[in-house]
Amino acid sequence: MTPSTRRPERLAGATAVILAAGVGSRMHSAVPKVLHPLLGRPMALWVLEAASAACAEASVVVLSPATEVLRAHLPNTAHIAIQAEPRGTGDAVRAALSALPAGARELIIVCGDAPLLTAESLVAVAEVRRAANAPIAMAAFVAPDPSGYGRVECDDDGRAIRITEERDASGAIREIDLVNAGLYAVDRAWLESHLAAIPASSATGEIYLTELIAAAAGEGTPAPVVIGGGELEGVNDRRQFADAAAALRERINELHMAAGVLIIDPTTAWIEPSVNIAPDAVIEPNVTLIGASEIGARTTIGSGSRLNDATVGADCTIRASDIEGSSIGDRSDVGPFAHVRRGCMIAAEVHIGNFAELKSATIAAGAKVGHHCYIGDTEIGAAANIGAGTITANYDGAQKFRTIIGARAFTGVGTLLVAPVTLGVGAKTGAGAVVTKDVPPGALVVGVPARQIAKG
Ligand code: UD1
Ligand code: MG
Repeated sequence: MTPSTRRPERLAGATAVILAAGVGSRMHSAVPKVLHPLLGRPMALWVLEAASAACAEASVVVLSPATEVLRAHLPNTAHIAIQAEPRGTGDAVRAALSALPAGARELIIVCGDAPLLTAESLVAVAEVRRAANAPIAMAAFVAPDPSGYGRVECDDDGRAIRITEERDASGAIREIDLVNAGLYAVDRAWLESHLAAIPASSATGEIYLTELIAAAAGEGTPAPVVIGGGELEGVNDRRQFADAAAALRERINELHMAAGVLIIDPTTAWIEPSVNIAPDAVIEPNVTLIGASEIGARTTIGSGSRLNDATVGADCTIRASDIEGSSIGDRSDVGPFAHVRRGCMIAAEVHIGNFAELKSATIAAGAKVGHHCYIGDTEIGAAANIGAGTITANYDGAQKFRTIIGARAFTGVGTLLVAPVTLGVGAKTGAGAVVTKDVPPGALVVGVPARQIAKG
């Protein structure tokens, strides 16, 4: 579903090292930057996905005590290295060395704050390094606003000879708009013999990985540079975070549109990568589809709807509704303004009307539940009709109880069903009935508390 699943040839002998130990102070958040979710996934996981698609060897993720919570989100194929204190990107790579898989001869180093990176960009950097037989290669891009990025100086052949961080850059260097993407391919043995020699920055005391570029140039082997585009942009603040989210949203929406989904306004449809949508489904503006949601063919998801872990069949219409952890059968309609909470199994050709709230309800084919109902912990039989304002009183303050409503049963307006209670097949209640006892099949009950006035 995500573009990086279009896998290129995986790089043999290469391992990705994902730097994710920094807190990201420019986000001004109590949550470490690499953990902030983009389209439902922590930022660093987008990077890991691209890395896993590009490299044949297992990836190494560098965490710190501040970012260790990310561990819970990582697949168990990833190796984890701990950088005790975030003392710079060079120090982070030092921490990674002890966790490298034995088969790794080449490292593809990436920043955990570059969620738009694709496997193709990683492969391209490795390929230029291999082709030039250079110890290190890097990716860069031309930034209309280079502020915050390291500036890249090149020789006449376009190979990088030095990276200068903005805080260390003179006026002339700051003018350079070719910036470091923080993506490198490096020979493992060369890295191991050069990393220890990187001096700490006099300005910050940090160990900058970028110093390796000057080291390679000093040895007469300047770094080949792959010039990329917007996929190389990093996320350091909330503005860039919003831009990255929009870029990922566009990528996902492009894939759905290419596969035959009608997305009326791709700028306002937020669809997580885990969602599947069948061709000819229609996604109206301002729709959020998240989790393991599935949308069937020709189904319309109307404006203002939010579906989380929801499965909706074919030919349904969902209007301005919230559906979570539930399934809905073919040719059903929901809303506007319905709230289908977790645990509902709704069959085909069911009507869920406006302002209905459902929770743990199983509803058989052809039933109708409309107009301000609350249906919780309930089974409703086929073709039953639930009148306006029918409420299942499922909770006595301590425990939840079930309501069973038989096939073709009919509840009058404002019926209150005090659970546990069963309404038999074809039974009926009068308007305002408060049903405290089971109703036999076909019987009619009225009043408060409801009493039977007709037999089945
Ligand atoms: C870094 C580069 C800069 C480049 C930019 C690209 C250095 C010195 N600078 O700057 O040239 O233009 O990325 O986006 O490398 N991290 C650790 N441990 C640390 C510090 C950082 O793991 O001690 C991780 C962070 O979690 C982050 C990544 O490394 O994912 C980059 O760190 P960040 O502080 O964002 O560096 P930039 O200032 O963006
Ligand atoms: Mg950064």
